[in-house]
Amino acid sequence: GIAHDFNNILMAILGNADLALLNLSPASPVRHNLEEITRASQRAADLCRQMLAYSGKGRFVVGRHDVSEIVREMAQMLGISVSKKASLRYSFAAELPPVEVDVTQLRQIIMNLITNASEALGDGSGVITITTGVMECDRAYLTATYLDDNLPEGNYVYLEVSDTGSGMDAETRSRLFDPFFTTKFTGRGLGLAAVLGIVRGHKGAIMVYSELGQGTTIKVLLPAAHWKPGDRESKSETSTSPRIGGTLLLVDDDPYVRDVGSQMLTLMGYQVITAANGRAAVEIFQSEGSKIDCVILDLTMPEMGGEEAFRELRRLRSDVRAILSSGYNEQDVTQRFVGKGLAGFIQKPYTVAKLREVVGRIFGPQSPSQ
Ligand SMILES: Nc1ncnc2c1ncn2[C@@H]1O[C@H](COP(=O)(O)OP(=O)(O)OP(=O)(O)O)[C@@H](O)[C@H]1O
Ligand SMILES: [Mg+2]
Repeated sequence: GIAHDFNNILMAILGNADLALLNLSPASPVRHNLEEITRASQRAADLCRQMLAYSGKGRFVVGRHDVSEIVREMAQMLGISVSKKASLRYSFAAELPPVEVDVTQLRQIIMNLITNASEALGDGSGVITITTGVMECDRAYLTATYLDDNLPEGNYVYLEVSDTGSGMDAETRSRLFDPFFTTKFTGRGLGLAAVLGIVRGHKGAIMVYSELGQGTTIKVLLPAAHWKPGDRESKSETSTSPRIGGTLLLVDDDPYVRDVGSQMLTLMGYQVITAANGRAAVEIFQSEGSKIDCVILDLTMPEMGGEEAFRELRRLRSDVRAILSSGYNEQDVTQRFVGKGLAGFIQKPYTVAKLREVVGRIFGPQSPSQ
């Protein structure tokens, strides 16, 4: 769809600006312009993500995670995102059950809620508190939430963001999740619409407590899951596997993405082979598979998409290392990838640094980029 195309265009803009920056002398007078291009395309990518989150599309890599852990990892970024007069406090529950989430989307929820909380403080000082926990929700409780699509009673992990800011009147409370509803001069009214879309996609619910002048508390509830053996080890497993190699097969139907992606990988010191769709990738893998160490697969492609190609490649080599790459997809396909040996995921548009991080995790410390 449009979002897919739009995102590939952003990939070409961001990727080329990023590559140009890397080749530029620090003193160059155009450095500032390139940095502005990078920043602007990142803002466009953000906007695209918010719109797609609301539509419920673009849930990618679902795994079991500890919500507290994800908040902790974001602490530094949250600290610089809130107003200087805000004091940020954390209250983490110990031993939380996991939730099945797309981490990128959970981070998006947290960022959107924190941004609103900070904005609600205005120029004044105030406190923003992030609390995590788990609670038993019965029918009565769930009925009082937004998004009660007949959710099952049971244990829910929650993430709560409270602020001592302006609070909301009844009119605002009734419309805050509407797309494009904003009371701010520069607001787009997409933050909470995106939160709602994501929470709906994860079969969760949202509780809002707010009174004018009394501050606001927004509580996001996600169904509690159970840890399974291997959930927590998997990360270190991939990062320690020593793998000296250097040839990647980059598969994408968009020629601009192939072009900018190969330039990035080449710069990082890898050999690159490209293919324009899944079928071509499988054919290349059949003849040259022995020298390919990793495949970067776009999810949505004509002829043969990423999912089918991944299955075919695994048939040819059961331990094939594949990184899935996508802007936004129409289906909730990646859930089917979980536990099936997907080595990584990278969201388009990506920068050299991001690509280095994701690919580096597979090639390990000996990767040629180090
Ligand atoms: N913590 C809060 N305190 C007070 N009002 C809030 C809070 N969070 C949301 N609101 C109200 O809900 C409206 C919608 O929020 P939402 O995040 O969707 O959009 P926005 O913040 O106005 O713009 P955007 O997030 O797209 O930049 C806000 O304009 C504000 O009126
Ligand atoms: Mg907002």
